[in-house]
Amino acid sequence: MTTIKGKRILLGLSGGIAAYKAAELTRLLKQAGAEVRVVMTAAACRFITPVTLQALSGKQVHSDLWDASVPSNMAHIELSRGCDAIVIAPASADFLAKLAQGLCDDLLSALCLARECPLLVAPAMNLQMWANPATQRNVKQLHADGVAILGPASGDQACGEVGMGRMLEAQELLEEIEAFFQPKLLAGKRVLITAGPTFEPIDTVRGITNTSSGKMGYAVARAARDAGATVTLVSGPTALAAPRGLERVDVSSAQEMYDAVMVRVAKADVFIGVAAVADYRPKKAMRHKLKKGTDEMTLELQPNPDILGTVAARRKAPFCVGFAAETENLEAFAEAKRRRKKVPLLAANLAQHAFGADDNQLILFDDQGRHELPRAPKIELARALVGHIARLLPKK
Ligand code: CTP
Repeated sequence: MTTIKGKRILLGLSGGIAAYKAAELTRLLKQAGAEVRVVMTAAACRFITPVTLQALSGKQVHSDLWDASVPSNMAHIELSRGCDAIVIAPASADFLAKLAQGLCDDLLSALCLARECPLLVAPAMNLQMWANPATQRNVKQLHADGVAILGPASGDQACGEVGMGRMLEAQELLEEIEAFFQPKLLAGKRVLITAGPTFEPIDTVRGITNTSSGKMGYAVARAARDAGATVTLVSGPTALAAPRGLERVDVSSAQEMYDAVMVRVAKADVFIGVAAVADYRPKKAMRHKLKKGTDEMTLELQPNPDILGTVAARRKAPFCVGFAAETENLEAFAEAKRRRKKVPLLAANLAQHAFGADDNQLILFDDQGRHELPRAPKIELARALVGHIARLLPKK
């Protein structure tokens, strides 16, 4: 079950070129199981037609404060009741100013003023409009009023300029909305996570690696961030984009991952080792490309440091969570690994089912025994794992 399944979202569009992204957002919200009702300002209807939003939301789109088709004839009250959140995307500079002032001369602004639910806004405007002290004052006011501000991002703008003010992409907005609904189980906690494979160089162009995609580790990082933690993600080479709102440290080899973890671990409350760390590395990495010969070739390997084991053995160790990827005897190997590495919690999965896939299945082992998390998308398993960690964390 996704976190916004069954949630009733009122999606408001004000006038901005980013209105086209709201069409995709409507589709993504619906796909995630939310019920979406769209309200547009007159300016928004100049950028994209209500017909598009009606087709995508499957519901009549409203834009008129005096809409006689709403039974009570009080659209501004009726449409917002029973909503779990109002999301304004795009939120223009003008609309933010109206919200900050409590103006309500059209349906969407009146709905926002009359609401009983949380309000989330995704600013979208030219960089100078965003940087203008008036806008910044309004944003500060909205923040103080408890309105969640999603973005904006920096980048190419429709006007040809480059800078801060771009609305977040639809997928990013979906993730921010999902995050908003997460219980803040790890608020105030600092979480250090390793993810992805490592790459152990043989020469300048070759190396030893594995097929870990990093998806599980990145999902755990997102789930921890959404639960309110300050997250540092030490990542081996992956093709994944850095999740927003956390620090990502890129490394390549196991030794680099070890070093990156060790300089940060003292500050961590929780350490989660999701990375598929190479157990061995070539004894000597050649400084030039190895040439082919006719003879057999032997690669001498030496052990890499055990990152999780080292962290768990610290005098003031953070709460440590290990992952075990096995191909057979999952339960016996996993519990033995938990005891050997002396970690309070270990999540075990079958490597052949987990590596590269979007879904996974986990068994958690702790002092109380085993807890099965049935097959689900990795982000849902990650949220369940974060919930389990929050329950086991020592209460201060
Ligand atoms: N791990 C680590 N450093 C290593 C090897 C593993 O931090 N050098 C961590 C992984 O991130 C994972 C856990 O240890 O959380 C288990 O990894 P795994 O490779 O399954 O365990 P190993 O100890 O390497 O045991 P084996 O390869 O024999 O299964």
